[in-house]
This record gives sequence, C-alpha cells and structure tokens, in this order.
Amino acid sequence: MPANRGLRIGLVGTGFMGRTHSNAYHQVRHFFPRERGVELVAVCSRNEENARNFAAQWGFASHGTDWNKLLERDDIDLIDIASPNDTHAEIAIAAARAGKMVACEKPLGRTLDEARRMAEAVEHAGVANMVWYNYRRVPALTLAKQMIDEGRLGRIFHSRFKFLQDWTMSAELPQGGAGTWRLDAGVSGGGVTGDLLAHCIDAALWLVGPVAEVSGTAETFIRERVHALSGTRQPVTAEDASLFLARFANGSLATFEATRFARGHKALFTLEVNGERGSIAWDLHDLHRLQFFDHDGEGALRGWRSIHVTDGDHPYMKAWWVPGLQIGYEHTFVHQVADFLAGLRTGGKLVPDFRDGLAADAVVEAVLRSAKSRRWETVEENSGQARLEGVG
Ligand SMILES: NC(=O)c1ccc[n+]([C@@H]2O[C@H](COP(=O)([O-])OP(=O)(O)OC[C@H]3O[C@@H](n4cnc5c(N)ncnc54)[C@H](O)[C@@H]3O)[C@@H](O)[C@H]2O)c1
Repeated sequence: MPANRGLRIGLVGTGFMGRTHSNAYHQVRHFFPRERGVELVAVCSRNEENARNFAAQWGFASHGTDWNKLLERDDIDLIDIASPNDTHAEIAIAAARAGKMVACEKPLGRTLDEARRMAEAVEHAGVANMVWYNYRRVPALTLAKQMIDEGRLGRIFHSRFKFLQDWTMSAELPQGGAGTWRLDAGVSGGGVTGDLLAHCIDAALWLVGPVAEVSGTAETFIRERVHALSGTRQPVTAEDASLFLARFANGSLATFEATRFARGHKALFTLEVNGERGSIAWDLHDLHRLQFFDHDGEGALRGWRSIHVTDGDHPYMKAWWVPGLQIGYEHTFVHQVADFLAGLRTGGKLVPDFRDGLAADAVVEAVLRSAKSRRWETVEENSGQARLEGVG
C-alpha cells in the first residue's frame, strides 16, 4: 500500500454513524492536508436501494448488501463497522483474518466474550484497529486530558458522569427493526449501559484510569413492547436506565448515570472531575467550553473559569477557522480519522483501540453483573487501559 495513496475504505452501515464517518472521511483531506486522506471505495448496507443512494450521495465508488464481499477485495485497506452491535464481532473478526485494518463503532462487542475475541483477532492478525469513542476528540475534553496528565488537578478524588435522553419513554415504541434495534437486547447486547454509559465509561477510563470495582443498579421501566419484525408483544430485556458507583485503581470514587427516561433531555452528556489542586467540568450541549477551577490561584480571586476552547493553541483548533470560532459534534469524527492516519504515518499508538474498547466493555459487564447480584463486583479486565496509559 503506497503511503502517498489515500487509505481505501470499505464502510458497513449507512445510518447515523455511516453518515458521521463518511463526512469525516471527506473533511479530513481538506483540514488535515498533512495526512494522506482516504478513498471511499465501497459501502454496504442491508438494503440495496439505501446502499446505492448513500454511495451516490457520499461519493463511494461502489455499493452492495454483503459485507463479506468487501473482505475479498484487494483494493480495500480498512473495514469500517458502522452497523448495529450484533454485527460487530462477526465482521471485525472476519476482517482481521482477511488482513484488513478495522475501525469499529462502540460498544466493541455485545458481550465481554465477543469483545475479547475481537481484540484477540486484531492482535493476532497484527492489523491496525480503532474504536469510535469520538468524544475523546472534543477539543475541550482533549484539553482536559492534557491538564490532568500535566498534574493540574493533582490527586483525583471524585468524578461524575451522566448521559441522559428521553426518546424511548412511549410504551407504543416497538423494539427491534431498523430504528429501534437498540431496544432489542439480542441485537444491542443490552440497554443504556453498553450504549450511552459506554461513552461515560470510556471517558472515565481515559481521564481517571482503570476502574477496580462497581456497584450498579438498572431498570427496565416498560417491560413489554411489540417487536417491529414479528409484530408480537415480547418482554424487553434491555435496561432503560443504569446507575453505578465506581472505585478506581487510583483510589478515587465516581458516580455514573444513564437513562432514556429523563424527560426533556435529548443527549445530555456531562462530566466533572475533582482533584486536590483543581476541578474540571464539561457539558456536551456547550461542548466547546471547559470549566476549570484552579485552587493554585490567588485566594481572593479564585473561582471557576470558562475556557472557550477555540484558540490556535487549543487541541485541533489550528486546523479549523480563526480563534474564537467554534466547531461541533461532527468534527470529533474528523479528528479521530486524522489521528488514525497520523498514527499510521508515524507508527504511533492508535487510540482508542480494541484493547480500550475491551476495557470499556469489561466495566459494562461488571455493572450489569452487579445490578443482578446487588453486590459490589470486580472489573475483570482493566489491564488493557493500565498498559496503554498508566494508572491515574
Ligand atoms: N460513537 C457514537 O457516538 C455513536 C452514536 C450512535 C451510534 N453508535 C454506534 O454505531 C453503530 C450503528 O449505530 P447507528 O445509530 O448508526 O445505527 P443506524 O440504525 O442508524 O444504522 C445502522 C446501519 O447498519 C446497516 N446494517 C445493519 N445490519 C447490517 C448488515 N448485516 N450488513 C450491512 N449493513 C447492516 C443498516 O442498514 C443501517 O444502514 C452501533 O454500534 C451504535 O452503538 C455510536
């Protein structure tokens, strides 16, 4: 694969994430010209007409309905999995065996076992891999990570994470099928823990460090729904809400909450980290701002400051407009592609990779185990994160 040619992409899935990834592939060559860019070789979706329209709209050279065909092509370097969770393990493992690089949407697997097999498959094949935990690439959160790594917060004692939505409150909403596969645990693997809370968990592992043990509780408020494919009423086994307490390996404590039943909230992801020397807070609805309390400042003048993360010396911002002009949600995917291409160019670490995805899935699994046992549960697999980024 010549380094001057764009990375050749075979995309699976033409829904929400198929669009964010395709948009990122287009933008990266304009805003990160140092990287080699991408070629949109093929896109695959379950429905032929969708795949054809998507290919025309987003500039993919070919389209189809069978992802296996993408693996047979020698003009594709990377398989990008943007399809529902029940497809992740099968496609990723087959792609790795075919020698393709793999980018996979989160959660990595439906179960910890699937995630383990996926991580082992890419490592055994020696192929580059990543998981789309895109919130790491919000410039304000990247800045927060830098500040924590520089020790500006000092020893961390507390953190708190929330992801709130309200879109599944109606009992008339079906489970399963195209728009509501998330409510069918056979497809999704579970409810909000592996869906919304997984973003919080990844952010926590990245910012604070490995989680040692958790105590969780979960609830399915609407226990039966019509299945969109069969038309029959069936029990719902995906949880609507999930809350847990965590103890980290570094001795700090955290609270987590995710629900699709918080009326009025569409996608409210918030986090706060409190250390000995300072605190940071962030809110997805105001994603270009980082709140920072610096206890090292002059006593009488101490207070929370709101950093508008739009200046040329802020992470990623030099690539965009002029200081003071903000960017948004879609840019996090552009940054993830740019960082992946930069990692391929320099041989640097590509994060988050499947080990990181596995680490997040291990916390998800421990939370659901704890919700059942009603006890504190140990996280089985946190060595990946410890190995990659160090504790705390
Ligand atoms: N990173 C994030 O913030 C984020 C946000 C939303 C979703 N996701 C994840 O992205 C994935 C996709 O979610 P979405 O919201 O885009 O779903 P979606 O329902 O909008 O789109 C799913 C797409 O996958 C296609 N598909 C399903 N089965 C397929 C198969 N066997 N072969 C080929 N195509 C198939 C469908 O035709 C559809 O185009 C999920 O794993 C989800 O958890 C991540």
